[in-house]
Amino acid sequence: MGIPTHIAFIMDGNGRWAKQHRLDRSEGHAKGAEVAEATVRLSADRGIRYVTLFAFSTENWKRPENEVHFLFQLLSEYLLEHTEEMIKKGVRIRFMGRMKGLSPALQDLIRRIEAQSFSCDRLQMILAVNYGGRQEISDGFLRLHEALNNDPGRKDEMIASLPETFERYLYLPDIPPPDLIIRTSGEKRISNCLLWQSAYSELYFTDTLWPDFDEKCFDEALKEYSRRKRRFGGLDEHPS
Ligand code: FPP
Repeated sequence: MGIPTHIAFIMDGNGRWAKQHRLDRSEGHAKGAEVAEATVRLSADRGIRYVTLFAFSTENWKRPENEVHFLFQLLSEYLLEHTEEMIKKGVRIRFMGRMKGLSPALQDLIRRIEAQSFSCDRLQMILAVNYGGRQEISDGFLRLHEALNNDPGRKDEMIASLPETFERYLYLPDIPPPDLIIRTSGEKRISNCLLWQSAYSELYFTDTLWPDFDEKCFDEALKEYSRRKRRFGGLDEHPS
């Protein structure tokens, strides 16, 4: 197995990193944002085409209001600061999640950046914000249901080709599923990240906390991925 086409990162451990360094949790997130930026750069250098960053889940609203506020502020600052440079490097920026729950200002920023970076084709960076895998599947179900009601003549044809038809109603149907999902900080779970798309993803868990995730850690994950044999339920290695 060579280089993954798409890697999704569950960037966990910012709070523990801050605690280890006797810092406020917000400083862990700030360092985490720097690492996210460096990781996208490294990914482009390694020839990876899609990077998903799980930045804020639908469950993260349960955190204290000041932390939620800080995370959204950090996200806006990250976008304002890095978009121009990312566009120059050929990075297309896209969002995945429930836009409705975001502030109008952030929604505007997102739409503007998506439009500005639309024709960049070196790497696509997908920011999962207010994202949940179950919510994505539920939203997809409602949209498919609506489509079937609007076009009852196509019902049999659409139902006959499930699940392929259903996939077209997920948030970003043109993005291939992640080949590799990396979760930092020692937790070994998916936590509602890309539930549908992760059916055949390789999972990689490292004890490293996200703010410490550097080039060496990244290359270790890529090396481990290159050793995995992917069969997709078949017997032979799937041609990549
Ligand atoms: C999990 O660490 C991290 C998050 C919930 C947020 C992820 C956000 C960032 C890495 C920064 C913003 C990202 C971008 C792309 C600007 P945790 O707080 O759950 O850590 P803990 O489990 O150690 O407390």
